[in-house]
Amino acid sequence: MDRIRIVGGNVLAGTIPISGAKNAALPLMIASLLTDDTLTLENVPHLADVEQLIRILGNHGVDYSVNGRREKQQEGYSRTINFSARNIVDTTAPYELVSKMRASFWVIGPLLARMGEAKVSLPGGCAIGTRPVDLFLEGLQVLGAELDVDNGYVIAKTRNGRLIGNRYVFPKVSVGATHVLMMAASLAKGETVLENAAREPEIVNLAECLVAMGAKIHGAGTGTITIQGVEALSGARVRVIPDRIETGTYAMAVAMTGGDVMLAGARPDLLQSALDVLVETGAEITPTNEGIRVKRNGAGIAPVDVTTAPFPAFPTDLQAQFMGLMTMASGKSRITETIFENRFMHVQELARLGAHITLSGQTAIVDGVSKLKGAPVMATDLRASVSLVIAGLAAEGETTVNRVYHLDRGFERLEEKLSGCGAVIERISG
Ligand code: UD1
Repeated sequence: MDRIRIVGGNVLAGTIPISGAKNAALPLMIASLLTDDTLTLENVPHLADVEQLIRILGNHGVDYSVNGRREKQQEGYSRTINFSARNIVDTTAPYELVSKMRASFWVIGPLLARMGEAKVSLPGGCAIGTRPVDLFLEGLQVLGAELDVDNGYVIAKTRNGRLIGNRYVFPKVSVGATHVLMMAASLAKGETVLENAAREPEIVNLAECLVAMGAKIHGAGTGTITIQGVEALSGARVRVIPDRIETGTYAMAVAMTGGDVMLAGARPDLLQSALDVLVETGAEITPTNEGIRVKRNGAGIAPVDVTTAPFPAFPTDLQAQFMGLMTMASGKSRITETIFENRFMHVQELARLGAHITLSGQTAIVDGVSKLKGAPVMATDLRASVSLVIAGLAAEGETTVNRVYHLDRGFERLEEKLSGCGAVIERISG
């Protein structure tokens, strides 16, 4: 199994190209199921999760082709891919595929809306909490779906071949359930109003895609989304937004090691709350035409308290990385996780590098230390893994991060991007 070896202590300086967002690319790819035309997606990152979803969509009959050569480095190697779901050959998403990636459950929305039926495996447990699907099911029922759960599968059918628009108030903000209901409602009969909808930039990117395909959607990016259902959707060409989590991750790496890095292609509006927090810690953040410039020279890292919450607040997907940064702050900080229970798996591993962290319910109290020391570590999820990489870059000596497959799910060419800025980081195979 591959490992990442880091020798810490170097400041980061140079340019890091920001890739297309994994969490935007996945729902956009799934939207290809809604039409028998070709959906062309630009700036799709080259990641294990994207490859896995291509396999899952292929199982339903979606063909894909990659356009030309990789785009220039500025775009972070991301690609333009055509998806064509001309013939849906299978409306079942089997356990073997869905259990590998939770977001693949989202195919239930477009399959049901276009084909009138879908049989999708329940995604099962996950390292960062139970992550149920009750909101997806409740919302689809409100749109007129008949649902049965049998043998670990959700079997969904429409009554007369079509979903029916309705009003649904999410009892809790869910990114995935908002994606799914927005896709499903696009082909429903009549108007759907989604209230307490997620406002994440990835929702806006999906809405832009659906509108380009002929859907009638208003209010994406606010808590109330209104969708007038149409009978059919067409193909379109849509660009995946830059990855705000990758942006925030590298910004935190620079804030921790010190240095001066241009995050090329990054958009500040996608992660303003995280950038504000970084400024409070002492980093200099400058938005430019090229992207976001992050600098920290000399000054210590000030401790800042953070609470994760749905967009536009501080994202849960940057919580682990921020904790990495706070381990070297000049004082105590409190980091509270409100989205997922059990998302503190990185705490024990950061402690192996010398961090002082105590847990009290959903809050981690981080007592900053003046230095960390390299050690072998491993992580149990994507964002936790990358927090260990950041801490390793700032630690004295050698850190090896095991179970690199987590990183490959969500970070395109991580070692290459960081070593291009002066970090000593390499992948060791086997
Ligand atoms: C998405 C992101 C993930 C991010 C998360 C929160 C993708 C591919 N993944 O995950 O990186 O961490 O948003 O920003 O975009 N919940 C329920 N019932 C449901 C659905 C969700 O209780 O039916 C709960 C979840 O357990 C969690 C909370 O709602 O506590 C938010 O989850 P949700 O926004 O749905 O996360 P995902 O869409 O899975």
